Amino acid sequence: MKALILSGGKGTRLRPITHTGAKQLIPVANKPILFYAIEAIRDAGITDIGIIVGDTAEEVRGAVADGKKFGVTITYIQQDKPLGLAHAVLIARDFLKDEPFVMYLGDNLIKSGITNLVEQFKDRSPNSQILLAHVKKPNQFGVAELKDSAVVRLEEKPKKPKSDLALVGVYMFDKHIHTAVRSIKPSKRGELEITDAIQWLIDHKFRVLPHIVTGWWKDTGKLEDMLEANRMMLDLYETDIRGTVDRQSRVEFKVIVEKGAVVKNSIIRGPAAIGRGAKIVNSYIGPFTSISSGTEVINSEIEHSIILENCRIEDVGIKIEDSLVGRGVAVKKLNEKPKVYRLLLGDNSTVGLP
Ligand code: G1P
Repeated sequence: MKALILSGGKGTRLRPITHTGAKQLIPVANKPILFYAIEAIRDAGITDIGIIVGDTAEEVRGAVADGKKFGVTITYIQQDKPLGLAHAVLIARDFLKDEPFVMYLGDNLIKSGITNLVEQFKDRSPNSQILLAHVKKPNQFGVAELKDSAVVRLEEKPKKPKSDLALVGVYMFDKHIHTAVRSIKPSKRGELEITDAIQWLIDHKFRVLPHIVTGWWKDTGKLEDMLEANRMMLDLYETDIRGTVDRQSRVEFKVIVEKGAVVKNSIIRGPAAIGRGAKIVNSYIGPFTSISSGTEVINSEIEHSIILENCRIEDVGIKIEDSLVGRGVAVKKLNEKPKVYRLLLGDNSTVGLP
C-alpha cells in the first residue's frame, strides 16, 4: 500500500501566517502537524509516501526532506494550482500506479492514528473506505448520508446537510478512484472534489464503506481548531525537563522543556512545551501553550497560545491568550510618551486589544 499526503493549498483562514509558510508546518505541541500525519502512516506500516506540494513546496521539502528521519521514502508531486483533492489524485497517477492507497489531508490530526483503519481496509477490501465523524457544523465539511450502514450520498459543504456525519480528511482507495477522478467535472468552487469522485464510485456500484471515528479528530484549518489541537496534543505528553530551570522558577503539571531552553524566575503551568533554545525570564507560561525554539519571553504572561520560532515578547502588561504568533515576531511595551500602539503588521493580521 502507498500513501498520498496533501500539503498544498493556500490556508486562507490562517493568514497572515500562511502568507509566508505552509499551514501543515505550523507546530502543535512543538511538532509540525504534517509530521503527525507521516508518523501515523508509518506506524500503519506504509513507507512509500507521496506528498502533494504547492506554493510552499520548498518549505515542506526543507522540513521533511527524503523522509529518512521518519523511516519512510518521500516522493514530492508538484501541484501548480490548488485545483482540488481529486485533482491531487489525478496528478499522482504515476506515483500511485494501481496500488491501493491512503489519502491523508496534511492539516488533519487523528488522535488514535490510522493503523486500525488500514487493517480494516485490508480485511474488508472495499473499493474505498471513508472516515466519518459526528460534528456540530456539518455544513463546513463534506457530508455523508448513510442507509443501513452503507454510504448512499455525499455532498461537499451542503447548505442543508442531510446528516451530521462529516468526511474526515483520511480516505482509502483502490485503483478505481483513478477512473472516478477522470470522470467528474469541477464543482462550483472550480475544484475537482474528492467527494464527487467518491459519489461517482457509489453511483457506479463500487463498494464504499464507512468507518465512524469516535476518538478525537481535527481539521486544523482555523485558529480555534489549531489551538484545540495544541491542547489535545500537549495533554498527551508527560513532564520532561531537558533544559535549565533555575531555583526561582516553578514548573507545574505536564511541562516539556527541551534541550538548551532556559527558564529563569518564571512559572510554567502545564500542559506546556518550551522549545530548544527558548528563554523564559520573569514570566508566566500558562496551560496549553507551546513556545517554539529560539523564542524569548521576558516579563510577560502567555496562556493557551502557540508562539512560533524566534519571537521576542517583552514587558507585555496584559496576559496574551488564545493567540497564534508567527516566526520572528516582536511584541514589546513602549515606555514612551505619548502612549500609542505602534504596529507593523502583515496583510490579513488580526489584533485584539483590551
Ligand atoms: C476537505 C474536504 C471535505 C472534508 C474536509 C476534512 O475540505 O473537501 O469534504 O470534510 O477536507 O478536513 P477543506 O478543508 O479542503 O475545505
